[in-house]
Amino acid sequence: MAIMYKENPLKSVSWEDFQKLDLSAKGAYFVREQKPYHALIAQQFTRPMLDRLCELATRIRRIAKTRGGTLFLQDLLSEKRAMLYFAQPSTRTFLSFYAACQIVGLLPAEVRDTSTSSELKGESPEDSVRTFSSYFDLIIMRHPVGGFAERIAWLLSNTDRPVPVINAGSGKDQHPTQALLDVYTLQRSFERRGGIEGKKIAFVGDLARGRTVRSLAWLLTLYPGVKQYFVAPDSLQIGPDILQFLDHAGMPYEISQDFERVIPEVDAIYMTRIQDEWDTAHESQVLDTSHFHFTKAHLTKLKSDAVIMHPLPRRKEIEAAVDSDPRAVYWRQVRNGMWIRAALILTVFQRDPEVDRYYQDLTS
Ligand code: NCD
Repeated sequence: MAIMYKENPLKSVSWEDFQKLDLSAKGAYFVREQKPYHALIAQQFTRPMLDRLCELATRIRRIAKTRGGTLFLQDLLSEKRAMLYFAQPSTRTFLSFYAACQIVGLLPAEVRDTSTSSELKGESPEDSVRTFSSYFDLIIMRHPVGGFAERIAWLLSNTDRPVPVINAGSGKDQHPTQALLDVYTLQRSFERRGGIEGKKIAFVGDLARGRTVRSLAWLLTLYPGVKQYFVAPDSLQIGPDILQFLDHAGMPYEISQDFERVIPEVDAIYMTRIQDEWDTAHESQVLDTSHFHFTKAHLTKLKSDAVIMHPLPRRKEIEAAVDSDPRAVYWRQVRNGMWIRAALILTVFQRDPEVDRYYQDLTS
């Protein structure tokens, strides 16, 4: 069944005018029929959208437990193809999108090394992606330039192949689908404790350049009463733009360098690695960040029902001995990523009601 979208809002605005918009105002341009069509920035998601994606991810996860369910899911988007264009290193995001495509039957293809593409012959990345849109129905992209995925979505909206674009990590700026899987993990972790609302969540490490933190900090503003702690050395502290968002949303937060004090206070600790690929003069290598590592000894200080998260990859921020503690949920985060990305892809193509119907039959 071909979907005829009634609107293509990105077509109606010039790139110059679009760029001037507030992040929160941009969201309306990425939505069709009240559902995300492009997934580009955390600010485009509303609370009902998050609740729906989490519900859908859980339904897909349960349906996929049987062979019949797996085959049903694989039929949903079997007429479509996706391009995974990853111009920056990736293991989990790439593979979980790849696996998510397989779950819903969408055939994935990939360009991961731009030195093997015509970009080496001088083709612009814009022309490369326009080429992808000629062959594929969805573009999932990771790019070092912040805002580039938005530019591509706008550009394609003004061609005869306005295919959806999903941002799988852009520069130091945004990683909206990581934030979705983080929310899904938090929601599942706090399911029997009243949900995410009112919880205390600490971000630790390189908060200045960690795009996952920047996207998640914003999504958490959609959960009343959440208090965020930003624990980092001064030079790696969270950007003022995020703090302004929190102020604007009236959300409580604390800036701290005292990890030891914060550990027993919080319900979730979100560790991150130092993003030294952005160093201009090896500045983070001379920084002693050992006070911002989570060790086995810290487990005794942590609340018995708190969770430890990490977008991964990790270096020394979390001692491997912590992995076997039930509060360490970072490997569950990895798997949750696959389910929520499958949910997002189905939603983009408006095929989610079919999951609901199958799920109802399964549970009735
Ligand atoms: C993160 C990223 O790429 O921003 N990784 C991921 O997608 N899970 C975090 C990181 O690289 O540190």
